[in-house]
Amino acid sequence: MKSTAIANPNIAFIKYWGNRDDDLRLPVNGSFSMNLDGLATKTQVIFREDLAEDQLILNEKEEHGAGLARVSKILDEVRAAAGISFRAEVVSENNFPTGAGIASSAAAFAALALASSKAAGLEFDEPALSVLARHGSGSASRSIPGGFVEWQMGEDDKSSYAFSIAPADHWDLADCVAVVNTGHKETGSTQGHPLAATSPLQAARVADAPRRIKTCRDAILERDFEKFASIVEADSDIMHAVMMTSNPALFYWQPATLRVMDSVRAWRAEGLPVFYTIDAGPNVHVITLREKMDEVKAQLMALEGVKDVLTATVGGPAHLLTD
Ligand code: PMV
Repeated sequence: MKSTAIANPNIAFIKYWGNRDDDLRLPVNGSFSMNLDGLATKTQVIFREDLAEDQLILNEKEEHGAGLARVSKILDEVRAAAGISFRAEVVSENNFPTGAGIASSAAAFAALALASSKAAGLEFDEPALSVLARHGSGSASRSIPGGFVEWQMGEDDKSSYAFSIAPADHWDLADCVAVVNTGHKETGSTQGHPLAATSPLQAARVADAPRRIKTCRDAILERDFEKFASIVEADSDIMHAVMMTSNPALFYWQPATLRVMDSVRAWRAEGLPVFYTIDAGPNVHVITLREKMDEVKAQLMALEGVKDVLTATVGGPAHLLTD
């Protein structure tokens, strides 16, 4: 009753922001992402007869409270499906620095969904795994399939899952994450999603989502960098406009964030294939072609306020490690 899984985080090109059901994490719009290779969470789950409670060890530290409760919710679902009652020991590690603005919950819940279902003897198919991961963190649904991934909003719980539209080797892209702040504690996405509907701009963002999704899908399938760049930057800006106009307002951008955004736009105007996208934090994901990754990293490192640059290429699906 033991299994270990590895999953990558992902970066969203068309963002998920706001739920139609916060508990089930059913989104108000579909979204798109790519998995980030080289950045990973490894999670081992062991169901044990001798445990009275679930245990969570995250980066060598025992977790209690809300973090453990969120993990136990997924384990309860797995126990119910498998007809078992054993509690579990969960040991999880990230190979990327926490606080670097890379959403670790996507990789964490994708790895947990795969490892826990397998350890309980369940053989979930990819959509079922994606739904299970989604219950822990919406974006985790997109870290189950590999490469370039679409999460369809679906009609109900079962049909809201993610699938790959192209494998990792479809397009040699890279993500250079410009880290401008490591310490600041922001409003997390679980608290942020319910605020989305308080912005008068959210209705327009959601109404226009099918157009942005189609443009993004076409741009990826056609490997049209210009089309891709303009739709992804626009989508990120629209999400941040919603965040800034929600009640309470969420301002994630800092002076260095804007400096990176301005530089990226200027570099693109000069012919460098780059664009930015920003999640619920101040750090900037700068997407480029794999062959330009080192050049873009060096240029970002030279900007005032950029403390570090992490790099990743396109990652594959969540997978099991043979114990
Ligand atoms: O999966 P969550 O609840 O952490 O939400 C992710 C929200 C964004 O990162 C801002 C956008 C996205 O689609 O990943």
